[in-house]
Amino acid sequence: MGKKITLSVIKADIGGFVGHSNVHPECLETAGGILAGSPLLIDYHVTHVGDDINLIMTHELGKNNGEIHQLAWNTFLSCTAVAKKLKLYGAGQDLLADSFSGNVKGMGPGVAEMEFEERASEPVIVYMADKTEPGAWNFPVYKMFADPFNTIGLIIDPSMHQGFLFEVRDLIDHKKVTFSCPEEMYDMLVFIGAPGRYCIKSVYQKGTNEIAATSSTQRLNLMAGRYVGKDDPVLIVRCQSGLPAVGEALEPFANPHLVSGWMRGSHSGPLMPVSVDASTPTRFDGPPRVVALGFQLNDGKLHGPQDFFADVAYDLARQKANEIANYMRSMGPFEPHRLHLDEMEYTTMPSVSKRLKDRFEKV
Ligand code: 13P
Ligand code: 13P
Ligand code: MG
Ligand code: MG
Repeated sequence: MGKKITLSVIKADIGGFVGHSNVHPECLETAGGILAGSPLLIDYHVTHVGDDINLIMTHELGKNNGEIHQLAWNTFLSCTAVAKKLKLYGAGQDLLADSFSGNVKGMGPGVAEMEFEERASEPVIVYMADKTEPGAWNFPVYKMFADPFNTIGLIIDPSMHQGFLFEVRDLIDHKKVTFSCPEEMYDMLVFIGAPGRYCIKSVYQKGTNEIAATSSTQRLNLMAGRYVGKDDPVLIVRCQSGLPAVGEALEPFANPHLVSGWMRGSHSGPLMPVSVDASTPTRFDGPPRVVALGFQLNDGKLHGPQDFFADVAYDLARQKANEIANYMRSMGPFEPHRLHLDEMEYTTMPSVSKRLKDRFEKV
C-alpha cells in the first residue's frame, strides 16, 4: 500500500474586517507565516471566505491528529491577537475554549478532513461558505452524488453507476446513519431535507469504500449555548475517475438554493457562488457566499488554487441569487425570510413575552 495523504481544512472566524464582511490581510499574513514555519505540513494554502479564515493543509499524520489541530489552534490564537490589536469585529469569536485540549473539534473551529492514497491524478475541490450552516451542503452534495439530472456520470460511467454511500449525522441527538443510494434515496431525503438538524457528513464510493466527500458538521451555537456566530461550513470533494467530474461537482451551485444563516444568523437567503475576492458579504450582511477552490494534489503538494466561481459561467447564478435576495428581503421580519423561531441565533422573544405576559388573555 502506498503512503496516505491527509487533507485537513480547518476554519475559524477570529474577527471581521469590516464588521462580518472580510478578513484583515494582516491576519491572513500571520496565518501564512505560521504554517510556512511548520515542519508538520507537506503543503498549505491560507485563504478566506467572507470573515472566515480557512487553513487548507496536507500532511501524513492522519485525521484528528493532535499536532495538526494544535497547529491550527495556535494559528487562530495568533490571528486573534492581531484581530484584537486592530480592534477587528468579534475578535476571537469562534474560539470557545481558553486552552487547547488535544482536538479542535468542540472548541469552535470547523473541521473537514480526509485521508487517502493519492490516485494517479487527484483533483480535489475545497468549498467554503459564509453566512450559513453545515446543512447548506446537503442539497449540492445530494445533487453531485445522487441526482442523475446533475451528474450524468451516475448514468453513463460504469464506475459510478452503482451509486454512493452517504453518512448522515443527526446534530441534535449526536447519532449517525449510512444510506445506500440510489436504493435508499427516498429514506435519506426524509432526513437531509431538514438541513438544520441532519447533515451529510461524508460520501463513500460503493465497493471500495473510498472517501469521496466530507464536510464540517460543527455547530458552534449548539456547543456554546449562546449566540456566537453561525457555523460557516467547509466541504472537500474528490473528483474524476469513478467520482463526480469537476464540472459535475460545481454544477449544483448554478442554481442558488436557499440556506439559513444570513444577517445575525437568523435569516434565509440564496447561496451565491463567488470568487475569493468577491466573497465579501455586504447587503444585509450577505447574501450568503460560497467559494470553490480546485487543487491537483501531487505527492501532497497543493497545485492551485483554481478559483472556479470566478468564471463567467457563474454570472447568471449570481444574478439569480441577487434577484432571489431582493425578493426575500422584501419580506423583512416575516418568515420564511426570518428563520423559524427555534432556528434563530438572536431573539427577543423571551424578554418581550415576559414584559407582555400580563396582557395576554385566555381565549
Ligand atoms: P469523524 O468523527 O468521522 O472522524 O469526523 C471528523 C470530523 O468531525 C471532522 O469534521
Ligand atoms: P458570521 O457568522 O459570518 O460571523 O456572521 C455573523 C452575522 O450574524 C452577520 O450578520
Ligand atoms: Mg463574523
Ligand atoms: Mg463568517
